[in-house]
Formats: sequence, C-alpha cells, structure tokens
Amino acid sequence: MSRQIVLASGNPGKVREINQMLAGLDLTVVPQSDFGVPEIEETGLTFVENAILKARAASRHTDLPAIADDSGLEVDALNGAPGIYSARYAGHGASDEQNLRKLLADLIGVPEAERTARFQCLLVYLRHEFDPTPLICQGTWEGRILFEPRGTNGFGYDPVFFVSTHDCSSAELPPETKNQLSHRGQALQKLVAALKRRAH
Ligand code: IMP
Repeated sequence: MSRQIVLASGNPGKVREINQMLAGLDLTVVPQSDFGVPEIEETGLTFVENAILKARAASRHTDLPAIADDSGLEVDALNGAPGIYSARYAGHGASDEQNLRKLLADLIGVPEAERTARFQCLLVYLRHEFDPTPLICQGTWEGRILFEPRGTNGFGYDPVFFVSTHDCSSAELPPETKNQLSHRGQALQKLVAALKRRAH
C-alpha cells in the first residue's frame, strides 16, 4: 500500500495536481479535511513560516508526514504588498474581486514600467511534527499588474497578472499552461524532485 501524506489544504484541485505529479512515487496525498484537521490561524510574517505552521498542525493531528503551501502576490510599487496578506488584502473574508479592486485602486497613477510583480509559492514537507529539517521549496512567477482585469480562468489576482512570455493575463492562459509556468507548479516540481532524492 502506498504511504500517505496529509495535505494541509482542503482544495481538491491542489490534491489532484499533487497526486498527478507524485505518480510512480508510492505516495498518496490526502486532504486534511479527510481527517477533520481544523484550520489554524496563519500568524507567521513570512510565507515559509505560515507553510510550516500549517504542515506542523496537520502532522500533529494525523501522525502522518505533511505538505503545506503558502502563496501570494508581491507588488514592487507597494513594497511587496499584499504578500502574505493576499487572501485578505481588502479585509478578513474579502472576495477575490474585492482584493483585486483594492490592488488596482492602490496602483492608480503607477505607470506600466513600475507595475512589476511576482507570485510566490512556498511548499514545505515535514516528516513529522518535530521534524527539524523540513524540505522547503520556493516557486516564483514574474509578471506585471494590468490596469484592468482580463480573462476568466484561474482565481485571485489572475485577471490582473500579465505574463509577458505569453502576452496575456494569467486568467487568459489554459489551466494546463498556467500549472506548468506558475509559482505553485514550479515549487511542486522542486518538491517532487526533492522527495524522489530523499531516502525515507
Ligand atoms: P493560498 O495561500 O494558496 O490560499 O493563496 C493566498 C492568496 O494568494 C490567494 O487567495 C490569492 O489571492 C493569491 N494567489 C495565490 N496563488 C495565486 C494564483 O495562482 N493566482 C491568483 N492569485 C493567487
């Protein structure tokens, strides 16, 4: 039987994507919702701290190895905001649309050349709750913030994230293309390679 890893996320899309990439590794990722792991407060000040907090809580609750990710958007003209606050930029419980509108409002008057930004994703793997050497993988996706939303794919800030290599917004990319290019896809590829190298 393949070994289980708990994923500190209830997002079925993430579970499917990770399991596809782990195919052939004798590992199965199971969402923490299957074990009733409660959501924790993300009190860290960095993506990596928050990812470790989430993975540790999932591992403690299930006694299994755990994977967690934390991601967000860094905008240079805003000194790296919204950063770790990307999901709650317009306030707790804010919708994607509200967060995106706040971002565009904060960037009024900022010219195209100064609208550089990037998505960051930190993925961590803990063998157990007290693992002192977690695997830490980072993916970064460079882009620029548009003046108006474009496209309907994806979520979050995708409609205002311009991908110059493909001359469109991230919400105009087919999902498979986004998964290949994205911060999350890159971090995941690194994690899979690291898991393959590491003797368990
Ligand atoms: P999470 O930590 O992966 O849930 O992401 C935190 C927030 O960052 C999300 O709510 C989005 O606002 C933003 N974000 C992260 N990844 C993406 C992405 O691929 N596209 C658009 N927004 C993203």
